[in-house]
Amino acid sequence: MPVTMDTLVSLSKRRGFIFQSSEIYGGIGSCWDYGPLGVELKQNIKRIWWRDYIQRRPDMVGLDASIIMHPTVWKASGHVDNFTDPMVDCLECRHRFRADKVDEMPWVHYCAATKGNKFTIPAGEACSHCGERRTQCPDCGKGRLTAPRQFNLMFKTFMGPVEEDAALTYLRPETAQGIFVNFDNVAQSMRRKLPFGIGQIGKAFRNEITPGNFIFRTREFEQMEIEYFVNPRDTVEGKPADEYWHERWIADSLAWFQRYGLRAENLRLREHEKDELAHYAKRTADIEYYFPIGWSELMGIANRTDFDLKQHAKFSGKALTYFDEERKEHVVPYVIEPSAGVDRALLAFLADAYQEEEVRGEKRVVLRFHPELAPVKVAVLPLLKKREDIVRTAHTVRDTLARHWAVVYDDTAAIGRLYRRQDEVGTPYCVTVDVQTVGDSDKGESADGKVTIRDRDSMEQARVPIDALSTVFLDLLNGGAWSAVASKYPAAKA
Ligand code: GAP
Repeated sequence: MPVTMDTLVSLSKRRGFIFQSSEIYGGIGSCWDYGPLGVELKQNIKRIWWRDYIQRRPDMVGLDASIIMHPTVWKASGHVDNFTDPMVDCLECRHRFRADKVDEMPWVHYCAATKGNKFTIPAGEACSHCGERRTQCPDCGKGRLTAPRQFNLMFKTFMGPVEEDAALTYLRPETAQGIFVNFDNVAQSMRRKLPFGIGQIGKAFRNEITPGNFIFRTREFEQMEIEYFVNPRDTVEGKPADEYWHERWIADSLAWFQRYGLRAENLRLREHEKDELAHYAKRTADIEYYFPIGWSELMGIANRTDFDLKQHAKFSGKALTYFDEERKEHVVPYVIEPSAGVDRALLAFLADAYQEEEVRGEKRVVLRFHPELAPVKVAVLPLLKKREDIVRTAHTVRDTLARHWAVVYDDTAAIGRLYRRQDEVGTPYCVTVDVQTVGDSDKGESADGKVTIRDRDSMEQARVPIDALSTVFLDLLNGGAWSAVASKYPAAKA
C-alpha cells in the first residue's frame, strides 16, 4: 500500500527530517524547516544532481545568480504580466481559492430547496435538489465566491530604505532568468560552443494561492534548473536540434530519478496540452510521480525556444546571440529547460523509500534510500555502553569512517532498538562493536579486532576486521553489492 502523506509528515518530524516552520509560534502556512537528517538528504540530492549534470558532463557549467534581480527582468520574461493564477474569494469567511481548482473540491451546500439542509456535493457536480452549481465557498459552505480575478504569484519587495514604486522588485519565482541574463557572460568567459548548458540550484518564491500537501507546494522552495542552449539551425540525427535535445533531456531526466531509486511504475510522462503551455513554451513534458496525493508533477522539461533571450535583448538593448562560425551568422539559441524542484524530489525519494514490513512478528519501518541519498551512511553502535573499551573502540571506528562519510555513534538504547532506529532513517549499514572485538581479560578471551556489519535491506550480518572497514564501505557505498561482502566474510548471527 502506498504510504500516506500523514505517515511521512509524522516520520519526518519524529526523526528529524522536516519540521513545521516557526512551530512554537503556531507555524506559518506552507513553510517547512529541514532538520538534521532532512538537510543531509537535501544536500545529497543537490550534490548528486550537481555532480552528474554539471561536473561530469563536458557540455555543462554551473552558476549561482542573485535571488533579487533588476525589476525589468520580470517585465521582459513575461512574469509581471503573465505569471498569474485566477483567484476567487469567499465573501463570508474570506478564504481564497484558485478558481481553476475549486471545481476539483467537494463543496458544502445549504440547499434552499430543502429548507437549508446541509449537503456535501461531490467535486464537479451540481446539487441534485436545487441544481445549483458551485458558487459557494468549499470551506464554510455559506459565503458566495467572487468572480475570478488574476493574482500575480511573485513576492514583491523593496530595495533600499524607501518604499516607493521605483524601488519595487521581486523575489525570483524561478532560477531560470538568472541564467538567461548571464548567457553572454558565461558563453564568453568559458568560450562555449553550442550546444551547451548552464545549471543552477537555488531558492525560488511563489505566493501560491493554495499551497499545501506538506513540501509538495510551498511558497519558498528550491529548484535545480538547466538551460540547455542549442543552435536552432542545426539538425541532429535528422531532427531539428531543439527537438532532438528535448527528447534527450526527457530520457536523461527519467533515467536519473530511476537511478537513485524511484520505481519505474511510479513515474510517467505527461505532455502539456496546447492550451496549458506556458507563454514561452513550444512543447513541455512533465515527469509525474505517484505521490501520496496521486499522480503529480515532479519536474518539467520545456522547449522555451528563443523567447527569453530575445525578450532580454529587447528590454536590455544588449544582443544575446551566438556567432555560428560555420554559417558565418549570428543566431539566437533555442533553449531546452529541464527544471526540477528539490523539495518535490526529496518528497518523492522519501515516499518511494518508505516500506513497512513484518520481521519476527514485529513491524519494521525502513527507508530503503539509495546509499548516495541516505542522510547517514553508517551508524556505529557499541553493544555494551558500560564497557569503556567497547565505547572507546566504537568512537575510534566512528572517527575513522567519518573522515569519508556521514557516520553517527549511538548508544542510547539496546541494540535491537538502535537497529530499528537506523532502519527508520534509512542508514544502509550499522557497525556493532562487541565483547569479541575488544576481548575479555577476566575470562581470558583475547580481542579478535573484528566488528559486525549489518546490511539494512537484507538484515544480514558479516564479521569484518576493523582494518578492512574503510575498503569495505568504499565499495558498498559506491554501488558494490552486499553479496560480495557476505561471500568474503563470515556471517554473524542476527
Ligand atoms: N523555470 C521553469 C519553471 O519554474 P515550473 O514547472 O513552474 O517551471 C519547475 O517549476 C519545478 O519546480 C516543478 O516541476 C516543481 O518540481 C518545482 N516547483 C514549482 N512550484 C513549486 C512550489 N510552489 N513548491 C514546491 N516546488 C515547486
